[in-house]
Amino acid sequence: MLIIAIETSADETAAALTNGRKVLSNVIYSQILLHKKWGGIYPSLAKRAHEERIDWVVEETLRKFYSQVILGSEATPESLLDSGRPRRNVGVARMTRGIDKIDYIAVTQGPGLAVALEVGIKKAKELAQKYNKKLIAVNHLEGHIYSCFVQNSNGNPKRDFKFPYLALIISGGHTEIVLFRDHIKYQVLGETRDDAAGEALDKAAKMLGLGYPGGPVMERLASEANNRDFYRFPRPMLHSRNLDFSFSGLKTSFYYFLKKNSATSEVKNIRKLASSYQAAVFDTIVAKMDLAIKQTEINRLIVGGGVIANLHLRKLLRNLVRKYKGKVYFPSFKYLTGDNAAMIGVAAYYKANKKLFSDSNSLDRIPRYSLSQF
Ligand code: KG4
Ligand code: ZN
Repeated sequence: MLIIAIETSADETAAALTNGRKVLSNVIYSQILLHKKWGGIYPSLAKRAHEERIDWVVEETLRKFYSQVILGSEATPESLLDSGRPRRNVGVARMTRGIDKIDYIAVTQGPGLAVALEVGIKKAKELAQKYNKKLIAVNHLEGHIYSCFVQNSNGNPKRDFKFPYLALIISGGHTEIVLFRDHIKYQVLGETRDDAAGEALDKAAKMLGLGYPGGPVMERLASEANNRDFYRFPRPMLHSRNLDFSFSGLKTSFYYFLKKNSATSEVKNIRKLASSYQAAVFDTIVAKMDLAIKQTEINRLIVGGGVIANLHLRKLLRNLVRKYKGKVYFPSFKYLTGDNAAMIGVAAYYKANKKLFSDSNSLDRIPRYSLSQF
């Protein structure tokens, strides 16, 4: 089943061509440089950048795939997939014939930045109308969940589904623990009451003058301090019996620590600060997952979202599941941790199997779209 998927919920303009769980072609245009100096996503800039790039991103996704196959008049989707090496480039006319072979158009409907989501949805509707294709609306968070099952074009990794799973989504906008019962069946068990985990890292990095996004630079500095915890910042909600998170208290205490100790050499040791702060965030995540395993007796974890690019956190979660003789799965390729359309295409495949299509006229963005709405 060939699906072209579009994702514009935040600061990545992305499209992908998928066949079931396989990614045939994937293009991500990141706006990070654009937003860097604002220390976060600047909505009107994001909207304009999505509008400027969306056509190119979709065309490039198709071109990348169809330039690798010979587009004969007898070509079927299967023969296109099976044919081998690149022979020659295809022009726009041939590409348009390519899109004709696609079964469905998928798009992120939410949650996310409204003005950004609208750009992708508009493009998806346009394509659906022009080529008479059905639309599949995907929740961005179910995309992050399915990111752990995305395969490359050769069908690797071969990872079978074995439900149920505990899914953890940790990104710049979300921190959620979800019971993933079966395909397209979710129950939110816990979520953040304020800042998301990635946002907490981004805000601390900003206070330290490290720029945006903060996660990768905090990871590097923390590893240079051997990921040790020097200052023991607070771990909010750690001892509550529910699975919700809160990171804003930690952020505030970090702010006051910096302010109070601004004259001392302690505060100048940015590695110790980054390492201790990251330890507080990750400790909280691991403790909540520990509680989730105990409460649900599910020891198979999947983790998606930008923060799981962090190798130290991966190690902590591997140690956690070892305690329960369980398993933890991460997205197999780095590009799948951040926002991308490949995960949207794969989630859409499982929705198509259940005939969960959307009507083009009523498909609208839903900025605060919870997985509980399923
Ligand atoms: O999934 P994502 O690309 O976008 C959202 O849906 O929000 O996640 C972005 C977040 C940012 O907060 C960024 O700082 C964080 O993921 N991040 C990391 C790392 N790489 C990105 N956090 C910790 N360690 C990393 N290596
Ligand atoms: Zn995301």
